[in-house]
Amino acid sequence: MNQQRTGAHGGMETSFGFQDVSDGEKQSRVNDVFHRVAKRYDVMNDLMSGGLHRVWKDSMIAWLAPSKTARWKVLDVAGGTGDVAFRIVEASNRNAHATVLDINGSMLAVGRDRAENKGLIDNTEFVEADAEELPFEDASFEAYTIAFGIRNVPHIDRALEEAFRVLKPGGRFLCLEFSEVELPILDKIYDAWSFNAIPNIGKAVTGDADSYQYLVESIRKFPRQGDFAEMIRSAGFERVTWRNFTGGIAALHSGWKL
Ligand SMILES: C[S@@+](CC[C@H](N)C(=O)[O-])C[C@H]1O[C@@H](n2cnc3c(N)ncnc32)[C@H](O)[C@@H]1O
Repeated sequence: MNQQRTGAHGGMETSFGFQDVSDGEKQSRVNDVFHRVAKRYDVMNDLMSGGLHRVWKDSMIAWLAPSKTARWKVLDVAGGTGDVAFRIVEASNRNAHATVLDINGSMLAVGRDRAENKGLIDNTEFVEADAEELPFEDASFEAYTIAFGIRNVPHIDRALEEAFRVLKPGGRFLCLEFSEVELPILDKIYDAWSFNAIPNIGKAVTGDADSYQYLVESIRKFPRQGDFAEMIRSAGFERVTWRNFTGGIAALHSGWKL
């Protein structure tokens, strides 16, 4: 579980993949990973997941069901190259306005170019900031989404508290993240794929196996479904539930600010 603990020298430690590092070091190493992979991020997502991330993201948007009539303001945190935000805007018949927030300018630059190319720039905005310290007023958004982002954040509890703060009463929190595989044979296949194939594909496509080794390890350190649901409840959310996708390779958690 990705929990903070006091390290040998009294400072706060967390995990960077399977290594124990200080909080500050985790964020700067995560930032290095995404600066390095930004330009190949989208193609690697398709290769690593066999395109499954698209199906999972589509299911996330279906569960969110953005209004097609009201002008929802949606915040997509750790939004990277904009995949989730673009789907929300399109599902709302271009009524929604999506703010893509990410700590990494290289990922956001790719996202901004994609928004221009897709003709979605008027419905999107790109903000470079930290999920743990959102630069928005309380009660600003109808929905908060985060996909494959929260496991990279050093203090998950702070990110969840910020999510709760910026949502309007009645607002929806949705988090898509890699999770605990709950099917006995699939877990073996998934392990072999993750620890052998993914770093090698990463090396072949980007010349960088280490970044993909981190991605695989960070998935294993993330809390399992029930533990993460408890963290969401602790941040103040109600009616917290989750759905597994593909046997638990990914899970979609939902909560409401009531
Ligand atoms: C695996 S990518 C996910 C991108 C996108 N949501 C998607 O599903 O394709 C993880 C993203 O989390 C961002 N990230 C990491 N730490 C963050 C933080 N503290 N605050 C905001 N974004 C962060 C990274 O820069 C990266 O763009």
